[in-house]
Parts: sequence; C-alpha cells; structure tokens
Amino acid sequence: MAKKISVLIDEQRIIERTKEIAAQLNEEYKDSSIHMIGILKGSVFFMCELAKQLEVPVTLDFMSVSSYGGGTQSSGVVKLVKDLDESIEGKNVVLVEDIMDSGRTLSYLVSILKERKPNSFKIVTLLDKPSRRVVDIQPDITAFEIPDRFVVGYGLDIAQKYRNLPYVGVIEE
Ligand code: IMP
Ligand code: MG
Repeated sequence: MAKKISVLIDEQRIIERTKEIAAQLNEEYKDSSIHMIGILKGSVFFMCELAKQLEVPVTLDFMSVSSYGGGTQSSGVVKLVKDLDESIEGKNVVLVEDIMDSGRTLSYLVSILKERKPNSFKIVTLLDKPSRRVVDIQPDITAFEIPDRFVVGYGLDIAQKYRNLPYVGVIEE
C-alpha cells in the first residue's frame, strides 16, 4: 500500500528559496562562469531549478556515489560509481547536493575534487540536517535546515522511490 507522506517544504517555498540562492550566485560569479556538479540522482531536481535561474554562463557535469543501501541508515562507506566527464581544473565549481546528513559523502567528494585544482569550490545543498553531522564539513549555501527526520521528494528517495514528488515530505509512520 502507498505510504502517506506529509509535506515538510512545499514546491513554492523551494522555488522561492532557489531564486534567492541563484541571485546570490549570479552576483558572486557575475564576471565569470559556473561549472555545476550534481551528485546523482538526488540533486537533479534542485540542480535544474537552480541552473534555470542562473544568468552567468553555466556548464553541467555529474557524479554518482553510493553511501546508502536500500534503507535509511548510512553505511559509512562511500564508493565512487560514476566520475565526472570533464576536467574541473581552473573552473569555478559549484557542487550541488540534495541533503547533507553525516557529511561523509561530501567529505569524500570534496577531498578528491579539490586535488583536481578547480579555481574555486562551493557546496550548495537543498537540505541540511546539521544535528546528524559526524564529519567536520559545512555547506557554503543551504536552502533549508531540517530536523533529524528522514525526508523524501524533490529528488530524495527511499529505496529509489518518491524522488519525483514536487515537495519535500516526511513519511508518516
Ligand atoms: P551523508 O554522507 O550521511 O551526508 O549522506 C548523504 C546522502 O544520504 C544524501 O545524498 C542522500 O542520498 C542520503 N540521505 C541522507 N538523509 C536522507 C533523507 O532524509 N532522505 C533521503 N536520503 C537521505
Ligand atoms: Mg544522495
């Protein structure tokens, strides 16, 4: 049976907040360009919304890592499943993530990406659960801080389901 999901952050709030973040990035990178890197698959919905609002030249690339199994608990093991297609040397990288939880995924990605000599590096995340952090890493820009609840929608999944919900929601027990 389909689970009941209650809305935590609706689509309109996400779009409004994304516009604010885009305005900030448009200002910060106004004389240059942005190379956006999305972490598959969760970041895709937020990344598209953000990219549409950018007025500076934008290029896109994607990476895929596995850090979770089918459930809701972090395994603590991060594996690179798909690397970038292009070099990031000299580029202004904006890494886009769906959610920062323990911080393990981003900590691993940042360590390998910074070795590739980008000109600049910024982390933008749709959601952050700061109370769950086990690794010392902070996003540069967070759209929404949320409490320690497992959320789905707007790219986020549980066992690959619910990514397409147009809002961030919590599964009712
Ligand atoms: P971290 O490595 O513990 O920071 O985990 C980051 C990844 O865990 C995210 O990219 C998500 O794929 C997944 N994740 C963490 N919390 C949630 C959640 O509440 N819902 C769905 N996925 C989550
Ligand atoms: Mg993810």
